[in-house]
Amino acid sequence: GAPVEVDIAGLAPGEMKTVEWRGKPVWILKRSPEMVESLKKTDGQVADPKSERNANDLTPEYARNEYRSRKPEILVAVGICSHLGCSPTTKLTPGAQPSLPDDWQGGFLCPCHGSTFDLAGRVFKNKPAPDNLQVPPHMYLSDTKLIIG
Ligand code: FES
Repeated sequence: GAPVEVDIAGLAPGEMKTVEWRGKPVWILKRSPEMVESLKKTDGQVADPKSERNANDLTPEYARNEYRSRKPEILVAVGICSHLGCSPTTKLTPGAQPSLPDDWQGGFLCPCHGSTFDLAGRVFKNKPAPDNLQVPPHMYLSDTKLIIG
């Protein structure tokens, strides 16, 4: 499949857009400073905090950091659960909600078997999904233009 160019100029902090790449949904989330900060809190709760598992398939070298991204404020991730391939729903608002823990910091919930992911797409411990969400190959053409693939 061809690379996909995405304009992120209009994306406000806390906002997300979805584009299609190779038939898969790719999320682009502009994390607010609070969202970036939340990753420190989830660090101890996720199964693979440093994205070491299946790193060659799931996390390009430039995203093998706490943010899983090239820029701390921008998450680019494939919106497909690493368990059986459902598409997780966005639960960006912190705080308890149905199926989520009281100290929820924002992230994603897979409706199929309840796997949860933080705002860097890192899977929480003891969930059926074995791995973090995939970060697709991507790079910036400018501050507001991103190319995926
Ligand atoms: Fe997502 Fe099973 S497919 S938890």
